[in-house]
Amino acid sequence: MFGNRTKHTGDGRGPSSILVIDRPDLPDGTAMWRIARDSGVLDLNSSYAYLLWTRDFAETSVVARMGTEVVGFVSGYLRPNAPTTLFVWQVAVDARHRGKGVAGAMLEGLIDRAYARGARFLETTITPANEPSVRLFTSLARAFGVGLEYSPLFPSELFPHGHEAEDLYRLGPWPS
Ligand SMILES: CC(C)(COP(=O)(O)OP(=O)(O)OC[C@H]1O[C@@H](n2cnc3c(N)ncnc32)[C@H](O)[C@@H]1OP(=O)(O)O)[C@@H](O)C(=O)NCCC(=O)NCCS
Repeated sequence: MFGNRTKHTGDGRGPSSILVIDRPDLPDGTAMWRIARDSGVLDLNSSYAYLLWTRDFAETSVVARMGTEVVGFVSGYLRPNAPTTLFVWQVAVDARHRGKGVAGAMLEGLIDRAYARGARFLETTITPANEPSVRLFTSLARAFGVGLEYSPLFPSELFPHGHEAEDLYRLGPWPS
């Protein structure tokens, strides 16, 4: 459990404004699915996939809690063939809590965890039209003072049901 990373957001009145970056537990898979669904932007995986994620990839994923509510999540894993690279699969923040640094705080918390497990690079994919996500990872690279490169990864024609291309963003290296 790594629930000791906290940040104050909002108006600072009351415990609900305290953000806790935590390791996901099994029941959090339901909230992760709901937040992904409500984003209207992310590819929605099955509810089973999010539950499985909280069981098998909890160490490389985080949720953001305000009080008893999950307000955001990041799902990630260390690449099996390149375990010094943390791959960030999905990042989402409940619409009511955006613009307060929640995504940044989750990613910083996750990077700390992954660094302790040997990760020195972070990868993610972003569709070219997703400006908030481009800004989020650009800002993250700047905050940590690490490099950022991007290149094509999955062209749209590889997706069977119509989907924008996904570009690979690679941040790092974090110094050992
Ligand atoms: C993208 C998303 C996760 C950002 O969450 P957030 O908690 O609002 O982000 P933060 O407040 O931590 O902002 C982090 C940085 O991103 C920038 N940013 C966030 N949302 C932005 C937006 N809509 N437009 C422009 N920049 C934005 C912020 O300005 C900030 O940069 P700064 O540090 O240079 O000021 C959120 O908008 C979301 O859930 N979107 C839907 C799902 C999605 O697109 N996920 C990303 C693809 S996996």
